[in-house]
Amino acid sequence: MRIALLGGTGDIGQGLALRWAYDTNHEVLIGSRDPERAREKAEEYETELDSRGVDREIKGFANAMAADRADVVVAAVPAYHLVDTIETVGDRLEDAVLVSPAVGMKRDDDGLHYNRPGAGSVTALAADAAPDGVPVVGAFHNLAAGRLADLDAELEWDTLLVGDDPDAKNIVADLAEGIEGLRALDVGGLANAAEVESVTPLLINVARENDGLHDLGVRFH
Ligand SMILES: NC(=O)c1ccc[n+]([C@@H]2O[C@H](COP(=O)([O-])OP(=O)(O)OC[C@H]3O[C@@H](n4cnc5c(N)ncnc54)[C@H](OP(=O)(O)O)[C@@H]3O)[C@@H](O)[C@H]2O)c1
Repeated sequence: MRIALLGGTGDIGQGLALRWAYDTNHEVLIGSRDPERAREKAEEYETELDSRGVDREIKGFANAMAADRADVVVAAVPAYHLVDTIETVGDRLEDAVLVSPAVGMKRDDDGLHYNRPGAGSVTALAADAAPDGVPVVGAFHNLAAGRLADLDAELEWDTLLVGDDPDAKNIVADLAEGIEGLRALDVGGLANAAEVESVTPLLINVARENDGLHDLGVRFH
């Protein structure tokens, strides 16, 4: 598979890129609004892998170019810029599966709170912005980027998948489970995305209020 990470220069993009490049043979493309930044970050990820004896080529492109070449496109950008980003690459998504890990959150003195958009969820916003016929899967919302990017850290996490297209969901489940220590669980259709997204501020609040806990994820037993 060829996976493009739009905004792959950022935190969750880095974590997913490193893990897929380290644990699988999938081709990883880094996208950015600035192709030069994409190339720099791709090189940085290659150097990190090289230091662990893994020789992988990771390429950087402008977001649209990265999307154009990919089977699966992960929109790894802040929720508030998700729609713009999808619209920018929309005509390059033919035959691709679009993945949204984005969560809208607001912060106050008590902590972080889920900021549910009018569409019902950020994943639903992504689906509304995607061209007709492009399947959208919500995934990776509840992974902590810092731990993902630390290749010494063992994962024992679940990632919860929502989407209305079973084939697309299966493709993303396989990609997710290519990452060692990650189990993909099906949580139903896009209508269930808000519940999944809202777990992310919960995890951050648990970490914030409890000494010694950080970079939390979930594992269902
Ligand atoms: N961080 C986590 O632990 C985590 C975990 C699970 C899910 N998520 C979700 O994943 C998404 C990305 O999170 P992140 O922490 O990786 O974010 P981030 O590091 O703040 O940003 C990711 C990338 O988004 C691009 N970007 C920033 N502003 C933009 C804009 N105005 N328009 C288009 N692109 C823009 C940037 O790439 P360029 O400047 O190179 O274009 C940036 O490197 C969010 O929706 C978040 O809710 C994050």
